[in-house]
Amino acid sequence: MDFKIAVIKGDGVGPEIVDEGLKVLDKIAQKYNHKFEYTNVLGGGAAIDVTGEPLPKESLDTCKASDAVLLGAVGGPKWDNIESSKRPEKGLLALRSGLGLFVNLRPATMHESIKEASPLRADIVEKGVDFVVVRELTGGIYFGERKTGVENGVEFAYDVEKYDENEIRRIGKKAFETAMIRNKKLTCVDKANVLDSSKLWRKVLNELAKDYPEVELSYMYVDNAAMQLVKDPSQFDVIVTNNIFGDIISDEASMITGSIGMLPSASVRGDDFGMYEPIHGSAPDIAGQNVVNPIATILSVAMMLRYSFKLEEEAKAIEIAVTNVLNAGYRTKDIYNGVGQVVGTKEMGDLIANQI
Ligand code: IPM
Ligand code: MN
Repeated sequence: MDFKIAVIKGDGVGPEIVDEGLKVLDKIAQKYNHKFEYTNVLGGGAAIDVTGEPLPKESLDTCKASDAVLLGAVGGPKWDNIESSKRPEKGLLALRSGLGLFVNLRPATMHESIKEASPLRADIVEKGVDFVVVRELTGGIYFGERKTGVENGVEFAYDVEKYDENEIRRIGKKAFETAMIRNKKLTCVDKANVLDSSKLWRKVLNELAKDYPEVELSYMYVDNAAMQLVKDPSQFDVIVTNNIFGDIISDEASMITGSIGMLPSASVRGDDFGMYEPIHGSAPDIAGQNVVNPIATILSVAMMLRYSFKLEEEAKAIEIAVTNVLNAGYRTKDIYNGVGQVVGTKEMGDLIANQI
């Protein structure tokens, strides 16, 4: 089959990891007889340098006309002093919002063979780590009303956390559906002891729960969830949460599994279209050194095959290839903890592609 993929390499380590993702995708194309047509699209700092905008209209249009988007990472110190509405991160947010990608799936799965890379004690990760964070991606404080100013000579700034019931219902449905195809356990992470917005989340989720009687729904305050994640991550199956809590919890989740360099993500909206990116950022401090872990991006490519192209066998082939390479003892620097052999970004990409 033929698929059109918009490719945003972005900034920092972005180009390096995307190249490895495409290497693996090319191997899939060859082996399974598919055609993937890539269109490079400017986004983030790379777009600011050329056009002055973090997401030129042309970029958004190309993404809209594609079957899926593969994104590396955006941002870096070079653009730190730009006015906030023109920062590289704004390009990413405009993409998520402009493409209507309100669901962000961030699976946190620990690979058996790199358990030693987890900073948690062996007896804690012994029971395994396998859950998915369903993060709301186009609402809340990221997109709420904001203002900066001076009042009576005192500087102020605010950002509003606002959700309406429809926004909560559509992400809630996705979360229940995700729970249905997993272990039917859904935890809503919120701050309902303080925030009215969290209370509305609970009201809407309680209503939805009636349609999914098999799913065990529970609630957990975000501070407690942060603690429970390091105390016993095996208790979680599906976590649903707002944009900002999902951002924070998913970084924590990634570290539990060994490294933030391992976790992929899919941003979707209910049809086949989606944007796929590692959950980590542009890591400018290690860019251009062939040391960044490409696995999060390679696994994001697997998610693209699964969710947007419905190529389950091909997606599995990538995931198995990653597992095999890890089992064989190959490690990038971030997941090396005294066991196995350290390889560079390109070598890791080659090893995985060769397994397919
Ligand atoms: C992420 C990132 C982004 C976010 C930034 C770069 C805007 O941290 O994808 O988690 O906060 O959503
Ligand atoms: Mn983040």
